[in-house]
Amino acid sequence: MEMHLDNKVALVTGGARGIGESIATHLVREGARVVIADLEAERAEKACQVMGPNASFIRMDVTDKESVEAGIRRVTEELGRIDILVNNAGVSRRVRVLNMEPDDWNYIFKVNTFGPYLTTRAVLPQMIEREKGKIVNIAAMAGKKPMATYAHYSASKAALIAFTEAVALEYAEHGLNINCVCPGAVATKLWSIDNLETQDKSCVSSFDKDICGSFSFGRAQRLEDVANMVCYLCSDLTKNITGQSFNITS
Ligand SMILES: NC(=O)c1ccc[n+]([C@@H]2O[C@H](COP(=O)([O-])OP(=O)(O)OC[C@H]3O[C@@H](n4cnc5c(N)ncnc54)[C@H](O)[C@@H]3O)[C@@H](O)[C@H]2O)c1
Repeated sequence: MEMHLDNKVALVTGGARGIGESIATHLVREGARVVIADLEAERAEKACQVMGPNASFIRMDVTDKESVEAGIRRVTEELGRIDILVNNAGVSRRVRVLNMEPDDWNYIFKVNTFGPYLTTRAVLPQMIEREKGKIVNIAAMAGKKPMATYAHYSASKAALIAFTEAVALEYAEHGLNINCVCPGAVATKLWSIDNLETQDKSCVSSFDKDICGSFSFGRAQRLEDVANMVCYLCSDLTKNITGQSFNITS
């Protein structure tokens, strides 16, 4: 299936690794010019080298208004416009509510929910002016089927799904397509041991057995399962679809 993303300018937050890196790679393969917006310069530069000349990196902290606005302005000045925004940057921390400090809660919401609000707000004016634009938010199945020990993460992703629907309703009259995808579980650093080590020890469980065992196929989703759906939503094959959330799971 041809996605026809040639010469589209895409900004992918959190694209230095994991799902975001895969999304950026797939968008480049489909012909897009991609800018990875992340905190991790070294990892992102390496990823861009592999993707080739149609990928570049910009340092952006999605939780910081000035950083987001300056980044979006710079990309727009250098590349002329932003056609596609993928709000992928996200964080998770496994902890029970009684052990959850207000800072834990605020950090998860700042990256997962406040970040997409800031980036969306910064790209909307140019998309409205052109009467065209695609925004894809990476939410999570946890936002629809909340998980124990992930209360703040589940709530932040539920909020992102609701935000997606509301913004899509607001700007449908300008022809914008604003959707989200909800992966179940993909083996990335989000789940990795070094990440888990910083987490509440009373909730550590096995990714393969406890998490993936709950899916119909009994296995995790792949990076490309998410990336392919994102490319499809960024293409005009889905120009009559907005305000929807798509599950990437079994
Ligand atoms: N891996 C999964 O199983 C899974 C399941 C459902 C949803 N998701 C979602 O997919 C997205 C990507 O997850 P992943 O598994 O690839 O995670 P990951 O930890 O491998 O990558 C996250 C990326 O986001 C970046 N990031 C974090 N905070 C940032 C900030 N303030 N500003 C800019 N960049 C920032 C990190 O540097 C990193 O490159 C997240 O939104 C996550 O919630 C993942």
